[in-house]
Amino acid sequence: MSDHTGLAIRFLTSMAQALATMSLYAEGHPARARAAGGSFDTLRDLQGADPRPSFSFLGSEVIYGQQAIRGLTDWEWATKLANVGVQRLEFADMVEREAYVSFLEDVLARVSAFTAVAAANAAAAPMGRGNGPTAIRFGAVGVRGSSEVRLPDAAVQAAEQTSVLDLNAEVDAIRWVHDEVNDREEIPLLEAESIVRSLSVAMHGDSQMLLPLLQLKEFDQYTTTHALNVSVLSMGLAEFIGLSPKEVRAYGVAGMLHDLGKVRVPKDILTKPGKLTPEEWSLMRSHTVEGARLILQSDQKLDVAALVAFEHHIMINGGGYPDRHFRCDCHKASTLVHVCDVYDALRTKRPYRDAWEPAATLAYIERGVGTEFDADVAKAFIAMMEKWEPRLAFASLSPAAA
Ligand SMILES: [Fe+2]
Ligand SMILES: [Fe+2]
Repeated sequence: MSDHTGLAIRFLTSMAQALATMSLYAEGHPARARAAGGSFDTLRDLQGADPRPSFSFLGSEVIYGQQAIRGLTDWEWATKLANVGVQRLEFADMVEREAYVSFLEDVLARVSAFTAVAAANAAAAPMGRGNGPTAIRFGAVGVRGSSEVRLPDAAVQAAEQTSVLDLNAEVDAIRWVHDEVNDREEIPLLEAESIVRSLSVAMHGDSQMLLPLLQLKEFDQYTTTHALNVSVLSMGLAEFIGLSPKEVRAYGVAGMLHDLGKVRVPKDILTKPGKLTPEEWSLMRSHTVEGARLILQSDQKLDVAALVAFEHHIMINGGGYPDRHFRCDCHKASTLVHVCDVYDALRTKRPYRDAWEPAATLAYIERGVGTEFDADVAKAFIAMMEKWEPRLAFASLSPAAA
């Protein structure tokens, strides 16, 4: 795909030119049709080489397929498109000229109507699928900003003003990542990393670190809110014990993907209120092996995340699952995610029990030191939570995401 980067850049540049030209002329003016037609030709060329191109616009970054396009850094349209809710653009099939022109008009309308309020609404909107023949899919993946971008962005500003964080965009983005894994058996890695960067920005948005945790409103949010909370807690703990920023982000990705294998466990088992049968239990336990397999087949660079997916239910005394044929120590990231995972799971209301109180949850972790949990990691977690618990920000979810 990288061979086609030149064509992709030509297409994006022509799309921006077309949008700029179209904004200058009234509807029906021949200059509009000319600009759109010129851009359509570059899309044709690109699709001739890469029939299903996809783009993500994240902060000022543009990602084409699986790689960041360097030639377009600081391309102002990445931000403009992301601001109006077009953070993801996919061409599923050969696009017809008419469909492309109406796509351009749709984007143009969004850009012209753009205000802070419109942006917030657009970002919360679910990803749209072009109807039938348009074959163009675009919408929000909800990732904003990167570590290089000077923020505060809208979410951080809102948090500072009201002390309530809005993590709807991140929740939408994680749900999208799960859907992608389900549909394509492939993790959109760059987007996953961007979600983690965005969470890290949310954590640090309030001059001192705080942990934004989502509270569950409805049961089927469990998978996404849990992924987000474990990611945030893992980054907080990694930072608390003095790991480097690079490791902190890697642990954040691992925390986010730890239960990825659950996309393969039937929903009625995941949400079953009663006791699981032995067969159901063995399917449930398979999320560890399955998650590691999904992660490794997507990207070999995610080896820490794959290990964590495999090891996060293994206890320090060797108990837990999956079954292993020999004893070996778990990776530090796994012992760390394990504690964060148990904390978030116990603090969340489940169909068969109420949510645990913070003190009772920390006491449970303390009791598990040396049997279930690594002593150093568990003690650090308890110290971190005792320090930060009063500052935990329980983020709100809008009705759209609930
Ligand atoms: Fe798990
Ligand atoms: Fe989990």
